[in-house]
Amino acid sequence: MNPPEQTSAQVDAQLSTSGRAGAGGYLDRYEAAAGKDPADALALLAGWLRTDWRPLFAELRAHRPVLATPVFTIVTRFADVTEVLSRGEVFTVAGYAARLDPALGGPVMLTRDGTPLNRREKGLMQVMLPPEDVPRVRGLVAEVADAVLDAALPHGRVEVVGDLFRHVCAEVSGRYFGFPGPDRPTLSRWSRAVMTDVTANLAGDPGIHAASLSAGAEMMDYLRALLAERRMAVAADAARAPQDILSRLLRTRLPRELSLEDERLLVNVAGLLLGFMENASGSMVHVVQQVLGRPELREAVTEAAAEDDTAAFDRHVWEALRFDPFLKLIARTCERDHVLARGTPHETRVPAGSLVLAAVASAMFDETAVPAPDAFRLDRPLHTSLHFGHGPHACLGADPGAAVICETLRRLFRRPGVRLLPPPEGTVLRDRGVFPDRFTLGLGQEEE
Ligand code: HEM
Repeated sequence: MNPPEQTSAQVDAQLSTSGRAGAGGYLDRYEAAAGKDPADALALLAGWLRTDWRPLFAELRAHRPVLATPVFTIVTRFADVTEVLSRGEVFTVAGYAARLDPALGGPVMLTRDGTPLNRREKGLMQVMLPPEDVPRVRGLVAEVADAVLDAALPHGRVEVVGDLFRHVCAEVSGRYFGFPGPDRPTLSRWSRAVMTDVTANLAGDPGIHAASLSAGAEMMDYLRALLAERRMAVAADAARAPQDILSRLLRTRLPRELSLEDERLLVNVAGLLLGFMENASGSMVHVVQQVLGRPELREAVTEAAAEDDTAAFDRHVWEALRFDPFLKLIARTCERDHVLARGTPHETRVPAGSLVLAAVASAMFDETAVPAPDAFRLDRPLHTSLHFGHGPHACLGADPGAAVICETLRRLFRRPGVRLLPPPEGTVLRDRGVFPDRFTLGLGQEEE
């Protein structure tokens, strides 16, 4: 079967924003609109997914846990979302391939399900990114973030997206992944161009796709030259070569039949940047909005940031993100007819070819899996957190990614006077309504 055109993963899914309480009655309004014009009904739904996602999902979980529209099927309960994300043989990532593979010139682990390539490369890259690196990553992040914040303090302002979050991500890419790019803006542009096509081009705009192909080709050319240079450095003196992921890969010896060709190695290095920068910076913006928008939370987070032990602070971060995840939906293609939630009152036959949206943002508010979901609690068990996905495609970089998010935010909230500013200065500006580009906060003493 043909995967649906618009499977871009996490589909326009960083649909942003507040999830404010709404009027309810979404299903009735959707169905009334669908009776007249299905396109209008979809536009209505897309709008609610941006602005009213919490009450919309609450209603769907209660009354229509699996909602089939003419374009996609949206799955809202925790058990069903995890069923979709765990059943790679039914709900595949095939839809990512048309976007991501041509940008990088070959298959990527996120575009293949359980193939030898996927297993071998994910396994190898997991070895390259061990949890033991977390203290080093946190140290690097602390150094970079503190330098940015020191420089911003005299101005009483910090623009957190470009100057802090993306800056930190670029430094981590350079100094930890070994992939600095020719300069920070270029690295940032590559990430944005490719990920816009993969995750925010539901309509299949050819201009967005072309920009991704061109950025991807530039990036891969750059990486080929970098690899040649780095290989010489490792051959000259492995101990003195930079101790980063790229050098680790070059120092790794596998049996010949299992070894990776250079091009495969580079696709995986590119994947480190692509999996990372947009998700990390977007998630950090959402956490800051949550924390600074709730005075009692801001106080608790400021106190936790001051502690040497980072555990309490980190728990605040993940719980704050639950109230507004940057990634709200994860897309899959249903490869063959499947009965979802079999044996429950809402079991639903999902036909082959459907684009299925697993609403992780909804699942994390499902009271059958997440007790008292509307309460801000710091004792949530790890398995109920879906920020890094679930199942065979769960995030490769969850440990370093979590370390970057938590330590950057910890450094920010250790500073006195971090606060929201009134619009227009304090407004979050987003590219295509999805990717944050600017967000200026007040810093230091408030002017009288
Ligand atoms: C060092 C940082 C990161 C790296 C290197 C990285 C890399 C990756 C890669 C390669 C995959 C695909 C795995 C596969 O196909 O098996 C992936 C998946 C994923 N990542 Fe990350 N990532 C990072 C940070 C993050 C962050 C900060 C978030 C969000 C807070 C995130 C959320 C996800 C999610 C939700 C998936 C699953 C996608 C799906 O199932 O379709 N990642 N990541």
